[in-house]
Amino acid sequence: PRKIILDCDPGHDDAIAMLLAHGSSEIDLLAVTTVAGNQTLAKVTRNALGVAAVAGMRGVTIAAGCDRPFVRPFIGAAQIHGESGLGGVELPDPAGLPEAGIGLDPRHGVDVIIETVMAHEVGEITLVPIGPLTNIAMAARKEPRIVERVREVVLMGGGVHKGNRTPTAEFNILADPESAHVVFDAGWPVTMVGLDLTHQALATEEVCARIGEIGGPVAELVLAGVSSYGAAYRETGRFDHPPLHDPCAVAYVVDRAVMTTRRAPVSVELTGTHTLGMTVADLRDEAPADCRTQVALELDVDRFWDLVVEALAALGDG
Ligand code: BDR
Ligand code: CA
Repeated sequence: PRKIILDCDPGHDDAIAMLLAHGSSEIDLLAVTTVAGNQTLAKVTRNALGVAAVAGMRGVTIAAGCDRPFVRPFIGAAQIHGESGLGGVELPDPAGLPEAGIGLDPRHGVDVIIETVMAHEVGEITLVPIGPLTNIAMAARKEPRIVERVREVVLMGGGVHKGNRTPTAEFNILADPESAHVVFDAGWPVTMVGLDLTHQALATEEVCARIGEIGGPVAELVLAGVSSYGAAYRETGRFDHPPLHDPCAVAYVVDRAVMTTRRAPVSVELTGTHTLGMTVADLRDEAPADCRTQVALELDVDRFWDLVVEALAALGDG
């Protein structure tokens, strides 16, 4: 299995990404680090711990990282994920977590990323960031040697042809564009799993029915989350079913065949009046030989849901 660090801001789709990573036999989830994004750091960290408890994620390091973007003020996404960051989901009482073997590592999330990468062989660790890129950029700046050691970065963020928080920018990139710039520019291999791809991962009634058949607390948590997340997405008037963005990045680590990708240089817009946070991918020509970034384009939808359902079912069995 591939060893990964999941850097996240749960968040409904983040929570499902955690479950996919933990439940997949192709992934060894070493650590979950949290970052201010969909909600404040305190809230997303509490959510990460709660999800970990429901899924019995003993042995996975959980650590809190940066509590705000590198340069800009925190924006959050309460309108999609609720005031708690996991609206509509009831999580276990934090007081009971130690008994469940779930606790917060005392280290800063950025140090957990650095120490984990440095403690493993070159090419062993894959970083999977599915929130604003603050922790990953900080880690690369604090310990630049991680850039050579990381196998690859598979991130959810950006989009070649679309934005969501603005017409041109996706939330994770807009929330901290300077950190995104650092990550795209570092020189490690980056796969951008952006909105072009994730808007194909729609949690339809059929998908929810399959998850419902699994039963048990994990499936229940997912369905409660998707119901509230789906309602928020419907309110936007743009979606009948909510896109599960973040699990797509994890799915690519599980199985490369789940999506098509294309190599392309990607730049992050840091100064645009109307385009701040846009990921500008140059698709005009074939990418230059030294290009180490690629963008995800087409999802094998059936394969994706099979992966998700299989992982959730594995967790259902305990
Ligand atoms: C991204 O933004 C967040 O709200 C989601 O968790 C996902 O990571 C989608 O734009
Ligand atoms: Ca997220």
